[in-house]
Amino acid sequence: MAGDKVSIHGSWASRWVFILAATGSAVGLGSIWKFPYMTGVYGGGAFVLMFLLCIALLGLPVMLAETLIGRRSRQSPANALRELALEAAHSHRWSWAAFAGMITALLILSFYSVVGGWSLDYIVDLGRGDFQGIGAEQAGRYFADMVSDPWRLILWHTLFMLLSAWVIARGVVAGLERSLRIMMPLLFVLLLILLGYSLTTGHFMAGVHFMFNLDTSRLLDGLLPAMGHAFFSLSVGVGSILIYGAYMPKNSSIAGTVVAVALLDTFVSLLAGLALFPIVFSAGLNASEGPGLMFVTLPLAFGNVAFGQLMGVVFFVLVAVAAWSSAISLLEPMVAYLVERTKVSRLWVTAALAFICWFVGLGTVFSFNIWKEAKFFVTEGGAFQLYQWGAAGGLDVFGVIDFFTSRIMLPLGALTFVVFASWVMGREAVRDELAMRNATLFAVTFFLMRYVAPLGILIVFAAQLLK
Ligand code: PHE
Repeated sequence: MAGDKVSIHGSWASRWVFILAATGSAVGLGSIWKFPYMTGVYGGGAFVLMFLLCIALLGLPVMLAETLIGRRSRQSPANALRELALEAAHSHRWSWAAFAGMITALLILSFYSVVGGWSLDYIVDLGRGDFQGIGAEQAGRYFADMVSDPWRLILWHTLFMLLSAWVIARGVVAGLERSLRIMMPLLFVLLLILLGYSLTTGHFMAGVHFMFNLDTSRLLDGLLPAMGHAFFSLSVGVGSILIYGAYMPKNSSIAGTVVAVALLDTFVSLLAGLALFPIVFSAGLNASEGPGLMFVTLPLAFGNVAFGQLMGVVFFVLVAVAAWSSAISLLEPMVAYLVERTKVSRLWVTAALAFICWFVGLGTVFSFNIWKEAKFFVTEGGAFQLYQWGAAGGLDVFGVIDFFTSRIMLPLGALTFVVFASWVMGREAVRDELAMRNATLFAVTFFLMRYVAPLGILIVFAAQLLK
């Protein structure tokens, strides 16, 4: 029977450890760095509303699907889909989708590690007191200086990748638990302290207003980005949650656990936004400034309060830990797959994959300096050009990877996983894995998985194409 399988990679000691690990995966740069800057770029409230809707209606069902696929098969994404498809008398080709997901995860990791590196850099800068009494303009210049130096970025990117690979090589189950047990709660506390600071800026309500006021004319603008980010933020669509589900004990309730993780993740995102935007408005910064947003606003807060130096160091350590626990979950699916498939040891598999991600990550490093002018998908003056050096619009290398992964591959991966669970494995298998006591609740959940999530994803894609 499917329920009796065990994972060769180990399993979580209890449901709590799964919550910890899945939260560690979900809560990361996506919540603290990416959510605020995307909210800024896509106009505030409209984006936040779309994001929350996507989390509830699309993200949650997908997350359930991934977790139960993982737990039923106890294997890496590609082998899981292959085996469960064959069990249900469907084509083994389903595993190709999971394979694509694992490659997407590696692509995400390539830029994730670069930004994780920025937070490592800021730990040192804050500790040195570089931001004491700093003004808005200097904070902006500080960030610009940092990213303009490729060697500096490479150094931290390398360190971040090594730290992630180290845990993976030792095996996720052993490495994660100890560090996350203390760090995750502490991150919450520091975000609350930051929120306290934002309350004192005198612009708190401006921040709230920006995040929750609804500009209906921008709803469509932010729709696909919000959907992509909802999946990114929950770590679904690439197999990360699937592989963590594979390490989940049999007797724990999936639904309650998954909802808890999604709520925590959403809560951290909103908290980060509420902490950052008041600082943005009080310092007269530009909300739509992009990827630098967090790295420009936070030094202002920490540079101008009592104990800011110490708190700043602690905060960026926690951001780095949150990023690191997410990075691990990006690397794990492919590592687990290769360990299952080949005779190569975990150590060497990890080393090789980490090196590839590191190398691809150089593209993101250079996007902020020597390749800053290299622009792809340029539509200037109505004409489309695949590539143009020095164009005003278009996407840089980081932009291309981010677009391709978050807006295309994550939603496609998410679509595959829910469709697989609800149509290929079918109602009985899902019922068996979810083991929900309330029949109505199960019916609603299954309806979300079978119809709402797949159609929702397709509708968002269609809306984007028709726009
Ligand atoms: N959810 C992580 C974050 O928000 C990023 C991530 C995406 C991790 C996809 C795993 C898979 O930072």
